Amino acid sequence: MQLSYLSLTQFRNFARLDIDVPSGVILIVGDNGQGKTSILEAIYFLATFASFHAESDRQLINFIEGRKSLAVGRIVADYERLEKSHRLEVSIVQEENKNGIARARKEVWLDKNKKKVNQVIGHFQAVLFLPQMLRVVEGSPSNRRRYLDMALSQVISEYAVNLSEYGRILSQRNALLKQLGEQGGDFSQLDFWDERLVLRGASIIFQRIHAMQELDRLAGSIHHELTRSAEVLRLNYRPAYDPLPAPTNQIQLLDTPVDRTKISQEKIQAGFMQRLAELRDEEIARGVTTIGPHRDELRFLSNGIDLGTYGSRGQVRTTMLSMKLAEMDWMKQRSGHWPVLLLDEVLAELDTARRSDLLKRITASRQALLTTTDLGLFDPEFVKNATVWNIENGRLKEN
Ligand SMILES: Nc1ncnc2c1ncn2[C@@H]1O[C@H](COP(=O)(O)OP(=O)(O)OP(=O)(O)O)[C@@H](O)[C@H]1O
Ligand SMILES: [Mg+2]
Repeated sequence: MQLSYLSLTQFRNFARLDIDVPSGVILIVGDNGQGKTSILEAIYFLATFASFHAESDRQLINFIEGRKSLAVGRIVADYERLEKSHRLEVSIVQEENKNGIARARKEVWLDKNKKKVNQVIGHFQAVLFLPQMLRVVEGSPSNRRRYLDMALSQVISEYAVNLSEYGRILSQRNALLKQLGEQGGDFSQLDFWDERLVLRGASIIFQRIHAMQELDRLAGSIHHELTRSAEVLRLNYRPAYDPLPAPTNQIQLLDTPVDRTKISQEKIQAGFMQRLAELRDEEIARGVTTIGPHRDELRFLSNGIDLGTYGSRGQVRTTMLSMKLAEMDWMKQRSGHWPVLLLDEVLAELDTARRSDLLKRITASRQALLTTTDLGLFDPEFVKNATVWNIENGRLKEN
């Protein structure tokens, strides 16, 4: 995977940016608030069609452009994938509906053909590290699910579709549960939704089980190296509907990852269905679906200790870095090519040993874009071999 051209129009603080992108390492340098992170955000958007930190796509459109009744932000990129060149274009279109409420939608073209978003997620692949991603480890479970979903959607073609269908079915089912709880009615109306929920849900659980096991192995070995063998990192995936029989020793299980990879998708489906039947009365009383992928949890353990609760700042940072590097290897394994690596301000808070480990790994990747406010953090030799882009106020400064 290699980006060769990037163009932004009315995206964040870039009125217009047109740039050829070389291979190897690119250092994006600039003072605070000049647009460095926005470039990474735009590139990541091409892979996931979502921003990791914007709450809505509307925030991505340039403020001034966004005041118009019809406002458009655009990202266009050329890239090479498995030796073939492609052009991906995405427009974020903000329009007012008849009640004067502004809404944003996405329009996507791959090689000039109009596509649905779900058809193109992961055609271009990237791995992004932002400092605020520490909340993946430290924050609420929804942060971890979102993180996992963004990685898996890029690699497993049906994952994004299953996820969005699951979400849709879930809200319909919840509405019905609520209605049955409040007004009564024929409970068998739920059968229709249960069947659909389980079909999509089982596939998501199955994919998560396998991806987590592969990532666990990759991240474990990277983390071992990054911590100079001091820490053993384990990922503990805990599905809310667990296809494994309930453990006799609860406490034991919480802190030890369990192997669920031998369980077939059909078995998960059947078990999930049965569990929903058992929970039906309780769920009607509560008016919500209490099990399923929307409540899954993932924990990060270092030497058996939960980092979400007990991790130090540095431990959490190194863990996220191990995860990101593992994601990169995992994408290569699954899809046969390296993703583009996007690293926002990673060096500033790493100690010297970790910094040099990381730079070594970056040098080995085909294409990596790194942002920094201070080129002095990098080894002069490293800078000499990299391309430097100076960003000032949403523009590329000529060197
Ligand atoms: N929709 C938007 N339209 C115009 N400007 C925006 C929009 N969204 C954000 N900005 C502005 O764009 C600027 C660039 O933000 P960005 O996060 O890319 O900066 P940065 O160079 O990464 O800064 P830092 O070093 O502080 O991380 C900020 O000043 C921000 O206020
Ligand atoms: Mg930034």
